[in-house]
Amino acid sequence: MAILVTGGTGYIGSHTIVELLNEGYDVVIVDNLSNSKIEVLHKIKQITKKDFKFYEVDILCREALEEIFKKNSIEAVIHFASLKSVGESVAKPLMYYNNNIVGTLVLCEVMNRYNVKKMVFSSSATVYKGSDSPLTEDSELGATNPYGNTKLMIEQILRDIYMSNNSWGITLLRYFNPVGAHESGLIGEDSVDTPNNLMPYITQVAIGKRKQLNIFGDDYNTYDGTGIRDYVHVVDIAKGHLKALDEILNKNQCEVYNLGTGKGYSVLDIIYQFTESTGIDIPYTVCNRRPGDVAICYADSTSAYEKLGWKSERNLDDMCRDSWKWQVLNPFGY
Ligand code: NAD
Ligand code: UFG
Repeated sequence: MAILVTGGTGYIGSHTIVELLNEGYDVVIVDNLSNSKIEVLHKIKQITKKDFKFYEVDILCREALEEIFKKNSIEAVIHFASLKSVGESVAKPLMYYNNNIVGTLVLCEVMNRYNVKKMVFSSSATVYKGSDSPLTEDSELGATNPYGNTKLMIEQILRDIYMSNNSWGITLLRYFNPVGAHESGLIGEDSVDTPNNLMPYITQVAIGKRKQLNIFGDDYNTYDGTGIRDYVHVVDIAKGHLKALDEILNKNQCEVYNLGTGKGYSVLDIIYQFTESTGIDIPYTVCNRRPGDVAICYADSTSAYEKLGWKSERNLDDMCRDSWKWQVLNPFGY
């Protein structure tokens, strides 16, 4: 029996596959390579010395997806495949609703048809309405952009599927801010365009690709005025999927867990820690706030700890060092 990983050549998917293979799972990957490169497959093999199947397939293509379910004995699905840029989703909402929501509907229909009823789904802290951190799974929900809406809607769809037939086992994982890379430096976040996120921007400044970091506002109501987030190492996030998988393979349920460290760090904290960890200064300038940003967002991950036995193990130093190692070893990405 194999685990089907949609979006498996992407950033979080590739790290999760390494953990799955290391734990002895059989893995089948589906990805249309819309935001990832085929080269990652060789890197995963290099790290794990294990083999797996890869299908270059769009999850919207029902026939191709059915073929995969016909040819492989799938036990459960980890569903990462999604478009994920907030700004792009505001400009192209139809593309986001179609890819993320219709893609998930097609996937669930095919799963149902082949009697595969176990799914771990990638949700996001973006589904929370407010910034009353720490955020628990019961904090108020509400998204402010089409990308966030797709995550909220898919969460609801998956809850409804479970309500209609509780032979399903579904886990919704709400990631906070995944950063870092595998300790080998062989896989990481491949940012071809200008990165939207803080850590890949910092590593590109550090390597000389960009002149300076723009800090999006220093007038927030926080201890140093810059935004506070819950940065969590991608390998810890990856390991969270194995815990979630373990639970649903043994239990029918629809549960939701925050995956974060429970600690918030400001933009300036990250800059100082990056310099501390790598010895490289990050020139920066303060500019206007980025529309849509909240001041503070960090998790209460007690539930993941109590029910899944998961907690983050890597600290900010690990996150900075591993992000930097990936950048240095792969200055042009894969
Ligand atoms: P990513 O873009 O690196 O990976 C997503 C993968 O899905 C890509 O390889 C892409 O090619 C593939 N894909 C997209 N649409 C597809 C389709 N229709 N058919 C097949 N493959 C398709 O993103 P990531 O950072 O690894 O994120 C993984 C998941 O986690 C996403 O669902 C994302 O929304 C969610 N998430 C990410 C973050 C983050 O900060 N990285 C935070 C919260 C949630
Ligand atoms: N920031 C800068 N300069 C940059 C980039 C970011 O100052 O060049 C600041 C932001 O203003 C924010 C912090 O750094 O205060 C973190 O920003 P990121 O873009 O790295 O992360 P966000 O928390 O804004 O967004 C991330 C994902 C979203 C997801 C959200 C909630 O990118 O997709 O977490 O989970 F919706």
